[in-house]
Amino acid sequence: MLMERILKDSSVLVTGGAGFIGSNLTESLLHSGNKVVCLDNFSTGKKKNIEPFLNNPEFKLIEGDIRNYDDCLKAVKNIDIVFHQAALGSVPRSIIDPVTSTDVNIGGFVKMLFAAKESGIKRFIYAASSSTYGDHPDLPKVEDKIGSPLSPYAITKYVDELFAANFAKIYGIEVIGLRYFNVFGRRQDPDGAYAAVIPKFMKTLMKHEVPVINGDGSVSRDFTYIDNVIQANHLASVVQNKSALNQVYNIAHGERTSLNQLFTFIRTFATEFDKSILSIEPVYGPAREGDIPHSLASIEKAKRLLFYSPTINVEVGLKEAVKWYWNNL
Ligand SMILES: NC(=O)c1ccc[n+]([C@@H]2O[C@H](COP(=O)([O-])OP(=O)(O)OC[C@H]3O[C@@H](n4cnc5c(N)ncnc54)[C@H](O)[C@@H]3O)[C@@H](O)[C@H]2O)c1
Repeated sequence: MLMERILKDSSVLVTGGAGFIGSNLTESLLHSGNKVVCLDNFSTGKKKNIEPFLNNPEFKLIEGDIRNYDDCLKAVKNIDIVFHQAALGSVPRSIIDPVTSTDVNIGGFVKMLFAAKESGIKRFIYAASSSTYGDHPDLPKVEDKIGSPLSPYAITKYVDELFAANFAKIYGIEVIGLRYFNVFGRRQDPDGAYAAVIPKFMKTLMKHEVPVINGDGSVSRDFTYIDNVIQANHLASVVQNKSALNQVYNIAHGERTSLNQLFTFIRTFATEFDKSILSIEPVYGPAREGDIPHSLASIEKAKRLLFYSPTINVEVGLKEAVKWYWNNL
């Protein structure tokens, strides 16, 4: 990436900085010469994700909750740019407990956004989601064509976009929403009921257990390696062209992989570390509620306005991820 497209010499806040995406973003922002404050309540984030930064004088941890307005105000003090990643992810979690997902993902979002506005923050970049496309049938997904949401989680992420756009209009704060598509890579949590499919398959294979594929395995997604997401956040933080501001962008690689293909990739790469994994076959379970059958992003808008150019495709990213899990689980 060109140097001028990387944020440096700024004071930034990463909410959810102890999570999967937030900790990777924090690492990259520190590496490129920024001061980083992390606000996290460790509900799904992990201390071990931020351990490598704890002795870095440019890093500050605030243990707090985005649902608490005072914590938000404390976190945005002397900050130039906010990267808002904190939320409760997972469609199934939001179906089981829509109240908490709504509290955090909408209530916490508005508190963070208002605190940012009140303290005169220049730019608020936030994690939006491909789930906002809901039941719209078109592929690839284009930013301005969305359907009805299929889960409480999807509703929360769409409402966030509405608030951000409205705050840009009424208060003049610069906002950019990045609609992530199924992000994966180092530090994504393999544990718990709401773990994402890639770390879940990986951990199951490492234990020589049988992975369960929901549905018949034909469900497909635009799986996006973490480094592409980091690139998009840097680009969103430095872009100056007015037409690029107050927008939402698809952030993906722009290729579709079915769950069956995904499983085969992971098994092949894991076999490089343990030959016996090759003989493990998946079983098929019921399809998941609230899931769309296929997802694929058009990344033309991000290419055109942010100069986004994803560098790692799903196959290369999976190879990296498998290696990471092998050495770190
Ligand atoms: N991972 C994906 O594929 C994906 C796809 C689309 C959108 N997103 C969005 O990206 C963001 C980051 O997701 P992730 O995959 O890194 O998830 P994650 O669960 O690993 O990270 C979320 C972080 O937010 C923190 N958090 C949650 N509630 C909080 C609260 N009330 N106060 C303070 N901190 C809180 C958690 O402790 C955690 O560290 C989320 O907004 C998510 O909705 C992720």
